[in-house]
Amino acid sequence: MRILVTGAAGNLGGLLLGDLARDGHDVIGADVVGDDVERLDICDFSATRRLLQDHRPQLVIHAAAWTDVDGCAREPDRALQVNGFGTQNVALAAAAVDAELAYISSNEVFSGRDIQPLDEFASPAPRNPYGYSKRAGELSVVAHCPRHYIVRTAWLFAHGGRNFIQAVLGAGRSGKPVRVVSNEVANPTYTNDLSAALVRLVASGRHGTYHFVNEGACSRLQFARYVFDRSGLADVPIEAISSHQWPRPASPPEHAALVNHAGRLLGITLRPWRAAVEAFLSKEGWLS
Ligand SMILES: NC(=O)c1ccc[n+]([C@@H]2O[C@H](COP(=O)([O-])OP(=O)(O)OC[C@H]3O[C@@H](n4cnc5c(N)ncnc54)[C@H](OP(=O)(O)O)[C@@H]3O)[C@@H](O)[C@H]2O)c1
Repeated sequence: MRILVTGAAGNLGGLLLGDLARDGHDVIGADVVGDDVERLDICDFSATRRLLQDHRPQLVIHAAAWTDVDGCAREPDRALQVNGFGTQNVALAAAAVDAELAYISSNEVFSGRDIQPLDEFASPAPRNPYGYSKRAGELSVVAHCPRHYIVRTAWLFAHGGRNFIQAVLGAGRSGKPVRVVSNEVANPTYTNDLSAALVRLVASGRHGTYHFVNEGACSRLQFARYVFDRSGLADVPIEAISSHQWPRPASPPEHAALVNHAGRLLGITLRPWRAAVEAFLSKEGWLS
């Protein structure tokens, strides 16, 4: 299949380029930055439409986004422009060339007020500008591309990218006090596992909404504790704090743990999050 990937210079998009090519697809990468990809600003409708007309992909995987959650809270109009209207541009351009569309979305489309894990039919109610803009993107995809996949994920960690694991390990190794929020719950998810699952999903033709996360959920505190325990920092104490003691421009949802029902019906599941963290640490050479 000929597949165009937006956000191809990002963590997930970069992995997808390799995984899709290894699966035998003809892959084109596009991003606003990066080498060896087509230059594309998804906020430019004409340029987006032109690129898709030129390449005529059968499927677009739309992973580009402004992913700085606090930045989105400081500049909500820009968040909506990139993640909402930018996605609308991609959806309209995909529809014009009759391409399927796979849109990568977020657990932050949910309010986080429900304690139980959220399945694919739970009602979104974003509580911060990033979540609102990603939800706007979802609605555009549904409106313009009937043959779509919406794939929500959470708490990604990728090799080479800035992420929670590297941040807490940096703090733990520095000898400074480590304080981690205990009242935010979601699913740590290894970008390598997500990319592999997406390759399988887009081959299925089974359009719809999916929650692709590593199995299980935990608090940020439990996540950090597990990382320390498995990387030789078991003796380093972590102070549990509440999100009120860690003020941020964005208010993240507190309980936004996803459950993957729809993917399971297709036989597509991601391993438990602890096994995924171990695989990540092992590949980095940090597993003790
Ligand atoms: N990271 C997470 O924890 C997480 C959790 C849930 C869902 N997601 C979703 O998963 C997807 C992939 O995330 P990721 O972690 O791979 O993000 P990422 O590394 O930030 O990659 C996103 C890419 O999109 C590019 N981009 C930004 N604005 C653009 C524009 N106007 N036109 C074209 N490209 C643009 C970014 O460029 P710049 O770097 O220059 O901005 C970046 O290269 C995103 O849709 C995100 O919303 C991520």
